[in-house]
Amino acid sequence: MTAHRACGASELEQDTPLRVELDGVAIAIVKDSAGDIHAIGDRCTHGDVSLSEGFVEGDTLECWAHGSRFSLITGQPLNLPAYEPVPVYVVNIDGDDVLIDPTVLKEV
Ligand code: FES
Repeated sequence: MTAHRACGASELEQDTPLRVELDGVAIAIVKDSAGDIHAIGDRCTHGDVSLSEGFVEGDTLECWAHGSRFSLITGQPLNLPAYEPVPVYVVNIDGDDVLIDPTVLKEV
């Protein structure tokens, strides 16, 4: 597998998740308030809910359904009810292109 262009960096609004699907893998891309771009699994580990419809605060993304907040850095849930992490993907930037390989997880 190779990295795909997921979106343009300039398309991302700060603290507004963007849902993309790469090779059938749903990913939430987030530009945080520091300007860093993160890519985590879009499906909450507590239920079949899209995390990209949730709320960004700092370097966390909160599931809108029951309020678990996931670290955008490690994918770990920071509070219940979710207790399993979501995957975190390696993000590469080439010019304005946000490149992600859905088979390559970030080492955390
Ligand atoms: S579905 Fe996400 S916290 Fe319950």
